[in-house]
Amino acid sequence: MEASAAPAAALLDEHARCTPVTWRVGDHDVDLRTKVGVRGHPGIDGALLALGEALRRGRARPPAPAGGAGANRVLRALDLTGAPAAMPLWAAAAGADADWTVALSSAAALVAAREALAAAGTPRTELVAALPWEVSGPYDWIVWRPPADRGVRRVRAELAAVAAALAPGGTALLVQHKDEGAQRCEREAGASFAEVETVARASGWRVSELRGPRPGPPVDPWVAFEPAGDAGAGGPVRAIAGAFAAEKLDPGTAVLLRALAARGPDEGTGEAAGSPRVLDLGCGTGLLARAALAAGAREVVAVDDDLAAVRSATAQLGGDGRAVVVHADLLRPVDPAQAPLLAAGGFDEVWCNPPFHVGRQVVGALSRAFVAAAHQALRPGGVAWFVVNRALPYERELATWGGHADVTPVGERAFTVWRAVRARRPVSGSRDARVRGR
Ligand SMILES: C[S@@+](CC[C@H](N)C(=O)[O-])C[C@H]1O[C@@H](n2cnc3c(N)ncnc32)[C@H](O)[C@@H]1O
Repeated sequence: MEASAAPAAALLDEHARCTPVTWRVGDHDVDLRTKVGVRGHPGIDGALLALGEALRRGRARPPAPAGGAGANRVLRALDLTGAPAAMPLWAAAAGADADWTVALSSAAALVAAREALAAAGTPRTELVAALPWEVSGPYDWIVWRPPADRGVRRVRAELAAVAAALAPGGTALLVQHKDEGAQRCEREAGASFAEVETVARASGWRVSELRGPRPGPPVDPWVAFEPAGDAGAGGPVRAIAGAFAAEKLDPGTAVLLRALAARGPDEGTGEAAGSPRVLDLGCGTGLLARAALAAGAREVVAVDDDLAAVRSATAQLGGDGRAVVVHADLLRPVDPAQAPLLAAGGFDEVWCNPPFHVGRQVVGALSRAFVAAAHQALRPGGVAWFVVNRALPYERELATWGGHADVTPVGERAFTVWRAVRARRPVSGSRDARVRGR
């Protein structure tokens, strides 16, 4: 086996692994799954702990199905917590009868939710990759954790969607931390709901019930900006608020685009240098993919875990028949039919600005898994371009490749651009980096 492939495979196995985690709600042990990329991993997200406490104390509870106590139907409930199927699994453990829809935007959370639901055999749960305004109600109970780290506009768009999806007699449960703007969100909810009642508070977390929806016009989640420099040639960028760099060009992306624009003819991918097949790994709004198309790629596959990024990249690239956008946890697509697009060894080049956060938490394992995924995606002799924060070490992962070079544009201080080549033939050990600036 190729020596450099083993660490990549091990890192990817590690990334893909779902581990059991128990959410204790009073007498009920709710068996969840978590993995790298899921908020709170390897434990339980604080919002879920606060919600569990409110459920345990009976401060939050499912309403009766709209239509009154005599209504002869099952409660329709929507889980918008972002946690992998936590609510239907709690309901099954607590004997609370409901038909659940779980809408998740993270592909990693979908993987964990699928596995948790299969392990528990939870019936009557529909798992969908969807943003809140893409699910149609009415629901009697909606449990919503606003994505505060994605900005006020995104939270407002989701709030309007929750009001639109809630049945007139239903209840929405809002779980948020005071440092994430819980009080502002409750205040703003007052415009869309007749009643807003804070039912539990603990360690800065607030759980509120929203009743009597008064839906107004939907809040448009789309934003746009005009990127400057090497990114500007493709025109304005349109994106869903809260997708990475939805409202301004990321400085790391700008540096990578400068390095790519300045590359020499010997720095492509050999025989396919003229029209490579390119993977934009963690595509965000699709700016790197757009630049790869402009540079003459014969096909670009843009991949992101975040459905808001997938929708945004589709807006950027949808008109170009050479581009395809895939919702995936690294190389594992939500739709298994798309797996052949991401087959190992299928790419001449990978262009990548890897993430190192989940929510506001720094997760080193995630960026290491990105380097491993790029290695697996490339054909032997293929080339990856990474831009990384100067302070973060990547040499250990790149040392197993078969050749890598620092190609940071001269004068750049905050970021490093790495060009790394997947070895053509098995290598017996790591090779020292060639280091140069330009
Ligand atoms: C630093 S951003 C770069 C975005 C874009 N390429 C750019 O340069 O503006 C990293 C992206 O990786 C995505 N991401 C995070 N975890 C992922 C995963 N497991 N699989 C695929 N994409 C992921 C994030 O949603 C985010 O859009």
